[in-house]
Amino acid sequence: MSRRSRWTSSVGLAAALAIVALVPVFGQQRPQAPAGPWMDKSLPPDQRADMVIAQMTIDEKIQLLHGAGGFDQAPRSNGGASVIEGIPRLGLPDLQLADSAVGVRAAGGRGRYATLLPSSEAEAATWDPTLAWAQGDVIGRELRDQMYTVSLGGGVDLVREPRNGRTFEYLGEDPVLAGTMLAEFVKGLQSNHVIGDVKHYAFNDQETGRNIGNVKHGTREARETDLLALEIAVTDGGPGAVMCSYNKYNGDWACENSYLLTDVLKHAWGFKGFVMSDWGGTHSTAKAALAGLDNEEPGNADPSRARFGDALKQAVESGEVPMARLDDMVHRIVRTEFALGVVDDPPKGRVVDPFRGADTAQQIAENGIVLLKNANAQLPLNAATVKSIALIGSHADTGLLSGGGSAQVDPPGSGESRFGGPPVWFPTSPMNAIRAKAPRANVTFNDGSDPAAAAAFAKGAEIAIVFVNQPESEGRDLPTLTLPDDQDALVSAVAAANPHTIVVLETGGPAAMPWIDHVSAAIEAWYPGIRGDVALANILFGDVNPSGKLPVTFAKSDADLPHPQIFGLRPPPAPGTATAGRGGRGGGRGFFQPFDIDYTEGLKVGYKWFDAEGKTPLFPFGYGLSYTTYAYSGLHASGIDSVTFTIRNTGKRAGAEIAEVYAGLPAAAQEPPKRLVGWDKIALAPGESKTVTVKIEPKLLSIFNEQTNDWELLPGEYTFFVGGSSRSTPLTATVKH
Ligand code: BGC
Repeated sequence: MSRRSRWTSSVGLAAALAIVALVPVFGQQRPQAPAGPWMDKSLPPDQRADMVIAQMTIDEKIQLLHGAGGFDQAPRSNGGASVIEGIPRLGLPDLQLADSAVGVRAAGGRGRYATLLPSSEAEAATWDPTLAWAQGDVIGRELRDQMYTVSLGGGVDLVREPRNGRTFEYLGEDPVLAGTMLAEFVKGLQSNHVIGDVKHYAFNDQETGRNIGNVKHGTREARETDLLALEIAVTDGGPGAVMCSYNKYNGDWACENSYLLTDVLKHAWGFKGFVMSDWGGTHSTAKAALAGLDNEEPGNADPSRARFGDALKQAVESGEVPMARLDDMVHRIVRTEFALGVVDDPPKGRVVDPFRGADTAQQIAENGIVLLKNANAQLPLNAATVKSIALIGSHADTGLLSGGGSAQVDPPGSGESRFGGPPVWFPTSPMNAIRAKAPRANVTFNDGSDPAAAAAFAKGAEIAIVFVNQPESEGRDLPTLTLPDDQDALVSAVAAANPHTIVVLETGGPAAMPWIDHVSAAIEAWYPGIRGDVALANILFGDVNPSGKLPVTFAKSDADLPHPQIFGLRPPPAPGTATAGRGGRGGGRGFFQPFDIDYTEGLKVGYKWFDAEGKTPLFPFGYGLSYTTYAYSGLHASGIDSVTFTIRNTGKRAGAEIAEVYAGLPAAAQEPPKRLVGWDKIALAPGESKTVTVKIEPKLLSIFNEQTNDWELLPGEYTFFVGGSSRSTPLTATVKH
């Protein structure tokens, strides 16, 4: 990146830094001096937890099992989504919880700064676990800088419903990709001595009716889809916390579902941390505690108003909830504090370094932006020769879109963005970054509000770049894959006027593109974060060769999805009518009666649906172009535990190819045609070849056997498919096992 473009992009950040430097981090209770043998760091965390719990009164125990309220309601709040008040006399600090899906939330309103990273979907599109680690590391560091000790991020609800309003917070439709990326994210985050969280457990795969919907799904289907992503994240990532979701699963609320919380999470996966409820997602006291919920959020500072407050104390005193279970709940929280360094290395409070975060954000964006179409090598643009570029639509003169809801990060220099407020464009200006790249070109902007005027504006320019957007937010789904505000008409009009029309999509997930045959290039930029401007310009002008691949299938239209309409979607209620779905924000609007969300597609989530049903997607899972080309050859599989193949850069530019390995299981398994079992990202100079071995875990070739309640590797023929997307696998090999 040139010094100039970095400076251009960093002016806003520097201003923000100046502001935060003047504002101290909010005061809160500082950890007390060490107070007993449990402060001996050399002892195992479980032993330290037992020692300190032995000193606690029942009221102190109960205090750890519920938050003291959301945001600034609690006296000891740091301004985050909740605080679990600690026990100073025993040296246990307050746990300060903050939303932090793609950056620390609610910083702006408190005079602080937080980096907006690319959306989680963009992070997944890098397919690079080291970048997932880096994304988690930035968030962990900035949480700690701001005196938070628990992250509320780590979203991994599977994108089986691409119109889910939180798709941008999640990691795509494949459980192995999503779980692997999240495990690394958690490790990066927790390396900062902040407790990581994985959410929303489980099946909160749509926002519509999230507080009243009952998800129906068979055990095998559940374990092999959404729960597999969570299993990988929990067992490989080792998060300190798991947040149970709002919805019901097979008849029981997720936060009082003993199958999910105890049988699977704690027993089958060996989770040692604590389960906290989503905000207002605790529906009972004894039932929830006995099912495996450990902590109620956001709870209430007044224990008489919390389900896990006085009511829990009474349930223990009456014997309804055994003391041993109460101690287990407390143990899980306290051992996590010891295990992850929250007690031994508490945060000291620092001003966030915006440049460090922005550098990582840029690297992730450059690796996650996906080149979807590039007819006649329209891209990259030649900065030395391009004369005029007409930029159109989506505030491309000033900013790029970010995701809403509890994942919303406040833009630098602004106050707090309101939950449920209008979409927020971050001050990361594509126009400035493009002008910095091509200083001799005439780069102009039209807001795109009038398609005919935009077409006339584009006609005279050498290149037209149309920016389109699809705002997403927690609490409401997208009614359709069609872009809002008639942006399709805008693209079509511009494409008809200028044969060199490039479309840049700022979307949380898939969008329909009825105009795709009429534009010369298309780029999926996602919500690319604070340095999205520079990352995008680097890709447009070829300083970065795109390497991102789609972590989710792009359907041609809603009709091709397993459920053409979102479950429960109804017209909004008449003003003044009572609505159902209380106990959480949004997600209940317009719904009066609970309803079932019946995932009849079973195992066929995402590309597995398109493969099994013989449907052609607009862009398949795993797809993404480069400015160079790659050739695959020489697949060798002697057993089922690894495959070896050669990949060559057959073009003229250096690049990095994500090589994907899929497996077809023996017919007796009755599985969809193929599943992702491994991948590698290989950097290649022009003309260079590399021979690559991808290891395959037997579990990823297994099915979940409901009779034995365990994974099973069936005997028979396994076919490996290797290539650059789920629909381009030039190499196949079959082995018997
Ligand atoms: C969301 C969670 C979030 C929590 C706290 C809930 O509405 O579903 O993801 O962490 O609020 O803000």
